Amino acid sequence: IDTAIIIVAAGSGTRLGAGEPKAFVGIDHHSLLRHCLRGVFEAGPAQVIVVAPQDRAGEALAQAYEAAGDRRELVTTVVGGETRQLSVAAGLSRVWPGVDVVLVHDAARSLVPGDMIDRVVAAVRETGHGAIPVLPVVDTLKRVDENRVVGVVDRSELAAAQTPQGFRRDVLDTAYAVSREEYTDDAALVQAAGHPVVAIEGSARGFKITTPADLLRARRIVADAPV
Ligand code: C5P
Repeated sequence: IDTAIIIVAAGSGTRLGAGEPKAFVGIDHHSLLRHCLRGVFEAGPAQVIVVAPQDRAGEALAQAYEAAGDRRELVTTVVGGETRQLSVAAGLSRVWPGVDVVLVHDAARSLVPGDMIDRVVAAVRETGHGAIPVLPVVDTLKRVDENRVVGVVDRSELAAAQTPQGFRRDVLDTAYAVSREEYTDDAALVQAAGHPVVAIEGSARGFKITTPADLLRARRIVADAPV
């Protein structure tokens, strides 16, 4: 096995307001995490590391085993940290020897298909650089100061970043070892450490479930195309 995917699922999900950690909320009879795992196991073989909240580690393992079928030996679970970055670091500490490409994926991007994961792995292997899926920005973007519109931002030079984000393992390890700041995604952390990152075409199913409206959208998608 030369590839690992770290699924970060240790967030509290305050903005979703479901009263339990977001990754464990149901989309249908399956949780966000369980849906995410289905995509992961559709992709090429990889070590699968699920980063879970302390009190949900057993449940995370059970869901991962269920999704893995006869590939249970690929599954590792680890308890996450206070921030997403600390949760990724916890996952990184469990990557097996021999793995040279590591992907980091938000459990909250639950409907990402397996081929999106494969395309990120392929891009890292082809370029040697980090690779992230992005989508064009469709809204007109304004620069605002309090409630005053002070300008417009040229959206043609912007893109919305998704996960999974893939990196050479040595690059990600070093970037995490030297990082002293909080970044909103792994690509930013890796770029701050001086490494190039390429953008590939993202997936419409790669949206992040953050608010109740996002959960509703995921529920509709799953209801229209049951899996
Ligand atoms: O909160 P947000 O949706 O931006 O989190 C993105 C992903 O990072 C989620 O899948 C969440 O579970 C994960 N996370 C984590 N540990 C934290 C905070 C967030 O694993 N401390």
